[in-house]
Amino acid sequence: MSDKTILKLQLPTDPLWVKNVVESNIEELLTDHAFCEQKAASNGITLIVQNPNLPDLVQEMIALVQEEMDHFKRVHDIIQARGFVMGRERKDNYVNELRKFIVVGGGRTVQLVDRLLFSAMIEARSCERFKVLSENINDEELSTFYHELMISEATHYAMFIRLAKKYCGDVDVDARWKQYLAYEAQVIQNYGKAETIHG
Ligand SMILES: [Fe+2]
Ligand SMILES: [Fe+2]
Repeated sequence: MSDKTILKLQLPTDPLWVKNVVESNIEELLTDHAFCEQKAASNGITLIVQNPNLPDLVQEMIALVQEEMDHFKRVHDIIQARGFVMGRERKDNYVNELRKFIVVGGGRTVQLVDRLLFSAMIEARSCERFKVLSENINDEELSTFYHELMISEATHYAMFIRLAKKYCGDVDVDARWKQYLAYEAQVIQNYGKAETIHG
């Protein structure tokens, strides 16, 4: 799977992020990663709460939540197996900056599309980070694990884009997605410096 087919992200992560930052603190990476999976599940639940009238979306979110919680369990299992301690939740400044881009007002359809694209964006960047991790980390277990998660998050990204197009009404999803990609490219410039999934 090439970057081009899965993501269209405008700024790739420098692999040195793995070598210079992540590898020196795997415990920190895993703690942050565990919370990322929980937050992905929580976002799926929020989408169910906000859209109980859309059965297809609800079914997709049930599957998503189950998968994200399975990812969470697997990260938590690795933390335990290695004798690490899962710390408190780390701030995810990257996601907080993306959140500011979600449109305010405009009606239910506009807001739903934006929340779906916001979700797709996080899946896409997480997928890219997992790919960079799997290809560069000097740790066989984690390399295999992150390769598997990369594929899973790519599927989630595609699912969120598909749902956005399904429920878009008059919203031009492609045009809005281009705006998200441009904004994300600006935001991510300031990252790649911390041992967190989006850090
Ligand atoms: Fe996940
Ligand atoms: Fe995901």
